[in-house]
Amino acid sequence: MDSFLEKHPKTHTCGQLNKEHVKQEVTLMGWVSSLRDHGGRRFVDLRDRWGLTQLVFKPETDAQLHKQAAQLHQEDCIGVRGVVCDRNVSGGTPNPHLKTGEIEIHVNTLVIFGKSQALPFALTDPPTAHEDTRLACRVLDLRRNKMQRNLLLRHRINQSARRYLDEHAFVEIETPTLIRYTPGGARNFLTPSRQVPGSFFALAESPQLFKQLLMVSGFDRYFQIARCFRDEDQRGDRQPEFTQIDLEMSFVTAQDVMHLAEKLFVRLFHDVLGTTLPRPFPILTHNEALQRFGTDKPDTRFGLEHTDLTDLLREHNGGNVAVWRNALDQKHSIMKALRVPGHLKLSRAQLDKLETHAQQWGASGLARAKVTGQTWSQSPFTKTLTPQVLQAINQACKADEGDTLLFQFGPIDMVHSVLDRLRRLLAQQFDLIASTNTPAWQPLWVVDFPLFEPGEHPDTWVACHHPFTAPKTEDIPSLASNPARCKAQAYDLVLNGHEVGGGSIRIHDNTLQSQVFDVLGIGAAQQQEQFGFLLQALRYGAPPHGGIALGVDRLCMLMAQAASIRDVIAFPKTLRGVDPFTGSPSPVSEQQLRELHLKKAPA
Ligand code: AMO
Repeated sequence: MDSFLEKHPKTHTCGQLNKEHVKQEVTLMGWVSSLRDHGGRRFVDLRDRWGLTQLVFKPETDAQLHKQAAQLHQEDCIGVRGVVCDRNVSGGTPNPHLKTGEIEIHVNTLVIFGKSQALPFALTDPPTAHEDTRLACRVLDLRRNKMQRNLLLRHRINQSARRYLDEHAFVEIETPTLIRYTPGGARNFLTPSRQVPGSFFALAESPQLFKQLLMVSGFDRYFQIARCFRDEDQRGDRQPEFTQIDLEMSFVTAQDVMHLAEKLFVRLFHDVLGTTLPRPFPILTHNEALQRFGTDKPDTRFGLEHTDLTDLLREHNGGNVAVWRNALDQKHSIMKALRVPGHLKLSRAQLDKLETHAQQWGASGLARAKVTGQTWSQSPFTKTLTPQVLQAINQACKADEGDTLLFQFGPIDMVHSVLDRLRRLLAQQFDLIASTNTPAWQPLWVVDFPLFEPGEHPDTWVACHHPFTAPKTEDIPSLASNPARCKAQAYDLVLNGHEVGGGSIRIHDNTLQSQVFDVLGIGAAQQQEQFGFLLQALRYGAPPHGGIALGVDRLCMLMAQAASIRDVIAFPKTLRGVDPFTGSPSPVSEQQLRELHLKKAPA
């Protein structure tokens, strides 16, 4: 076997040969993708990551070899030597769907490098086996064509980013993974220190503080394709371990960073998909995004925008509808409508189903109205609602004959979240994305985020982005007195309804950083203990700086049109946060725990 490799190095890939190679003697290596017997001849499709090539074993040429080929099984790893033949000439049938479909290899030497036992699932695209089964033998699942293409696409994203950032004077610097725990971000994974008993490292949730420190050290432009770790519950586009194209720049404004990130993004699409994204990307304020779409990561490939009726109804004292008046009497309550155009026909049964969904998402119901002439039908409000307010609502929603209005009122977060989910569900049900003539890629920026959001307890605040984000200059005087109204110099990059990037201008003044920590309830002693290194660094001539991180996994999932983020990660974790293939996490021995100065809690 070894001597085969020594004598016959691989000459071509399985996706390379065509009529120009006819009569050449070649050596190919790969996996047996499929086997067929036709009229005594054995056919094998040999696969590697470049494609498939048809091999032929003829009994009349070499009976011994033909017998050896009979021993082959799907997914055996083999090497062959043979002559390239034109299928038209050799009596075969050309396959126009295959790059190598005009030729076949008449094999004269076969070596089996690795035999495969029976497969636990078929390696088909799309897969027929359940994801859990595939993840349990990921090594095989990764042989599927789609998985190979996804990982190659991911490779191209990383290479394109590296090239672009290198061309633009960014320095690639690695920062530590084992870091000091700091509060205020995602939940961290913790790793016990053997050498410092009772102390723990946190796994970096991002290189945030290190990239800021590198700016203080004068590196001016930094980047890293960085692994990040967050101990959060998993969702469709979240993993506990993920990758960012992370960058930071000195002496820049928010516009400078957005401009650079936008050009990088355009370059990625050009290099990886050959697509030209028009610039500049639209910019929405956080407020506008919530008003129109109920989310800060709107998918703008379809309409179904929301209309905020809060002011209108407050002005008209609830329009004589008691539930509306009562709802709007509550603090932090709003009233919104979603107009479904008449041509998207919604039956009563479908509307009832939507209501059930809304209830599952936290709404008490889903009030509706069908616009019929000058009035509404199918609506609980028509009896009491004043005709004047009814007309005003129709006008505000731009509602026409036959349209359906879906209403939601109550606490702001609930209303936004229910109508956002409803909007996306309707788009899916009516297939609005594929059927609308809009560009396939709709990147946009969301800006003017609040700096803080309310914490768990009354009068407590948490950072909306992270605690190092600079407030808008005009809001600095209100930091302590009115945290709710302070806006951040932060920006998110959204693509087709997914947040694919986020960044901000940072605080580079240690006094301002302390003030922000104060609002976040991190007192002077804790600031010194947990962020002393940052506050100290900011005292040594810190430059103004800002940056952004793009989520590689999410971006790749969208570019590859993959069903889940796990389809673009070689060895992902399941929704339960485990890797079934390697069996991690796993218990460790008492001895290992002792070395780490840890004791198992009694069950
Ligand atoms: P942020 O937390 O917004 O910012 O993360 C930046 C981008 O990383 C991606 N992302 C994730 N992808 C997969 N799984 C996850 N669990 C996950 N969490 C985040 C998203 C997101 O937009 N240090 C700051 C960046 C900065 O301010 O420069 C940060 O990490 O696409």
